[in-house]
Amino acid sequence: MNTTQDKQEKIVSMFDDIAPTYDTANRVMSMGVDKSWRRKACDLSYEFYGKDAIEKIVDVACGTGDMMDFWNARAKKLDITVSDIVGVDPSIGMVDVAKKKYPTFNYHISKATDIPLDDASCDIVSITYGIRNVVERKDALEEFNRVLKKDGLVVILEFMKNENPSFLGKMRDFYMNKILPRIGGFISKNLEAYEYLPNSIEDFSTVENMQNELENAGFEMLYTQSFSMDISTLLIARKK
Ligand SMILES: C[S@@+](CC[C@H](N)C(=O)[O-])C[C@H]1O[C@@H](n2cnc3c(N)ncnc32)[C@H](O)[C@@H]1O
Repeated sequence: MNTTQDKQEKIVSMFDDIAPTYDTANRVMSMGVDKSWRRKACDLSYEFYGKDAIEKIVDVACGTGDMMDFWNARAKKLDITVSDIVGVDPSIGMVDVAKKKYPTFNYHISKATDIPLDDASCDIVSITYGIRNVVERKDALEEFNRVLKKDGLVVILEFMKNENPSFLGKMRDFYMNKILPRIGGFISKNLEAYEYLPNSIEDFSTVENMQNELENAGFEMLYTQSFSMDISTLLIARKK
């Protein structure tokens, strides 16, 4: 097996291992602040898209499914009809949890680089706290472009690498590097998995780099905002 595949399989198997405790660990570690970021991602995307009837939203790296639930709940609140919400994730363990929580959505066990949907069949593709785990990111962004309709949106929420952190940014890094792995490791009994999280942020892209990658994959940037001491960043781009 080559190293890219090796690395990717190791990541997916780590998520399989922590799947049963993922939601509990997440609730404790995020203290619920991610909810407002998710809500904002949905509301702004619906506003940019400007349609009150949407055929298909695909949540890639759907994990235990919470973002799909946000797409559904915010659509109802805003009087938007969404016919199909689809979750895609290569971790059987994570998707099993999602299916139990949200049985009405549709699911595919697949990687971001290999989405089993037709060309130009989706209105919105989201990936929340997932793109960092995709080893072949360029291929994945091109795959999002392939499945999206013209003018369709890609919506990314992620912890981005901070090159010149402010004082508050340094506090974020301290929390992520020193405190978060211990909490997650304690709840999941898998310290290695939660040590991976800050390491993967250090290895990850800056916001500017991510914007360039999206543009190179055929998207036009619509919106970028960092929330709560730059902990989390929202990017929305449109397929040209
Ligand atoms: C931190 S979880 C995020 C889950 C969910 N999106 C959320 O917002 O809570 C990251 C997810 O990425 C998935 N993942 C890892 N590698 C992937 C890949 N190559 N393509 C798609 N998803 C992947 C993992 O299985 C895991 O469910």
